[in-house]
Amino acid sequence: MKKLAVLVSGGGSNLQSIIDETKNGILKDIAEVVIVISNNPSAYGLTRAEKANIKAVALDYKNMDGKDYDAKMYNLIKESEADLICLAGYLKKIPEKIVNEYKSRILNIHPALLPKFGGKGMYGHFVHEAVVKAKEKKSGATVHFADENYDTGSIIIQKEVPVYEKDSADDVAKRVLVVEHEIFPKAIKKVIENLE
Ligand code: GRF
Repeated sequence: MKKLAVLVSGGGSNLQSIIDETKNGILKDIAEVVIVISNNPSAYGLTRAEKANIKAVALDYKNMDGKDYDAKMYNLIKESEADLICLAGYLKKIPEKIVNEYKSRILNIHPALLPKFGGKGMYGHFVHEAVVKAKEKKSGATVHFADENYDTGSIIIQKEVPVYEKDSADDVAKRVLVVEHEIFPKAIKKVIENLE
């Protein structure tokens, strides 16, 4: 049974899909979420963790010294004995010490078809607004190995969705989010199978 540390910054719907798949789905008896950490004390993802009886820790990024934040994040992940780190709507850079120690064991979900519409500032609704503005005919979601940059790192799974002419950014966001919830657990399973 592999241990997952999941990092969130917001609603945690991707975290929820991972939790659900560990309980009754494709990750049952394969993985368990052992800790959820957020940079945002009011992230609903922390509440989702508590409801699932998973250790939930808020590190108040805004009111902490950067080095202290990074050290606490590192220690929490080490103590959790996590095999994989899953960035599920997590919006901060990963401390280099963690990137180095968990090379090819950090997975990130991005709501676009990387390498398009990725990089600094490309997160959440900004991504979908850029896709609509560019009159793209398709978008989608990508799970990739995270490294010290935003949204680079080799791709694990990618899945497309259509973008229609009349779509608003919100329409695209909703269609992509469904795919995110589908491919993140699949990507975790694929990485675990390759670990063994
Ligand atoms: C999702 O679109 C995810 O791709 C992005 O953050 C958004 C919110 O995710 N990284 P969640 O509901 O907090 O999992």
